[in-house]
Amino acid sequence: MAKQSSNTNLHKAKNNKKDEFYTQLSDIENELRHYKEHFKNKVVYCNCDDPRVSNFFHYFSYNFEHLGLKKLIATCYKNQDADLFSTNVSDKAVYLEYTGDKNGNSIPDAHEIGVKDLQGDGDFRSQESIELLKQADIVVTNPPFSLFREYVTQLIDFEKKFIIVGSYNAITYKEIFKIIKENKMWLGYGFSGGNAYFKTPYSNDNFVEGVYNINTGLVKFRNVTWYTNLDIEKRNVDLILHKKYTPEEYPSYDNYDAINVDKTKDIPVDYVGNIGVPITFLDKYNPNQFEIVKFRKGDDDKDLVINGKSPYFRIIIKNKKL
Ligand SMILES: C[S@@+](CC[C@H](N)C(=O)[O-])C[C@H]1O[C@@H](n2cnc3c(N)ncnc32)[C@H](O)[C@@H]1O
Repeated sequence: MAKQSSNTNLHKAKNNKKDEFYTQLSDIENELRHYKEHFKNKVVYCNCDDPRVSNFFHYFSYNFEHLGLKKLIATCYKNQDADLFSTNVSDKAVYLEYTGDKNGNSIPDAHEIGVKDLQGDGDFRSQESIELLKQADIVVTNPPFSLFREYVTQLIDFEKKFIIVGSYNAITYKEIFKIIKENKMWLGYGFSGGNAYFKTPYSNDNFVEGVYNINTGLVKFRNVTWYTNLDIEKRNVDLILHKKYTPEEYPSYDNYDAINVDKTKDIPVDYVGNIGVPITFLDKYNPNQFEIVKFRKGDDDKDLVINGKSPYFRIIIKNKKL
């Protein structure tokens, strides 16, 4: 059997609509510490979050005063597909509202959290959820991988600020790339060492050996990161480049006027024209330093080709400072 990577497992998750992957509190803390100044007096909405299992709800309710939040809302989705893996123990979708500690113990007590029934299933696209979305300033969650396109499009349409988890593959979706190119969304700080561990109800049989840890119940994905449209420091930092352009080291594409670069750190410091870079470049992208020109295709609208061969997805960029 061909060896599959943990990335392949994420593909599987998407194709089979397996969406139950719960984000760890430590990963949420690690990412959100970079955004603290954005939360003051804001309404935060977690719209794919069962508060019984969601660490997003936990994080924001316990850090409510520390962040100076105005309100926290979370909706819990009731999965209508009665599939084998469904974990929803309640047959009702609910939403929760929390407006901070009232009794001075700095803990979100059960009686301080308002739980209200939803009429429908709590789908983020439902009118009820959209009404809650309209109240929100910042949406923060790990949405279903299988609905990422629709999820992001909705946030953009309603002009919401957000911090969400998604796959790196999403960059290769036409709709998502357009949003990134237009600087309406960018990459956050990401998971430590590029390893994202999620709690999941799916059994070991669903994963290739080594991906699921029976002892911890955690599954490891290598291809997941954070996306946001909030201003973060890393986005304003120039990528330090040291290599000089030579035609030998940086061949041009057969079907597009740009040079090919295989590693982001090797982008030549002095090249004025178009440059093809791997999608991991976006982790270092500073819109004041580079402009995103296009994605993947040459003048003939076919995949970029170099000496007859097609490198893995490339983003065409241009140095704005030269
Ligand atoms: C990747 S999991 C993450 C769960 C949680 N946000 C967390 O990070 O721990 C995505 C969640 O979205 C829920 N979900 C699936 N489809 C949904 C929909 N259409 N609307 C809202 N939530 C949905 C799934 O049941 C699942 O719990």
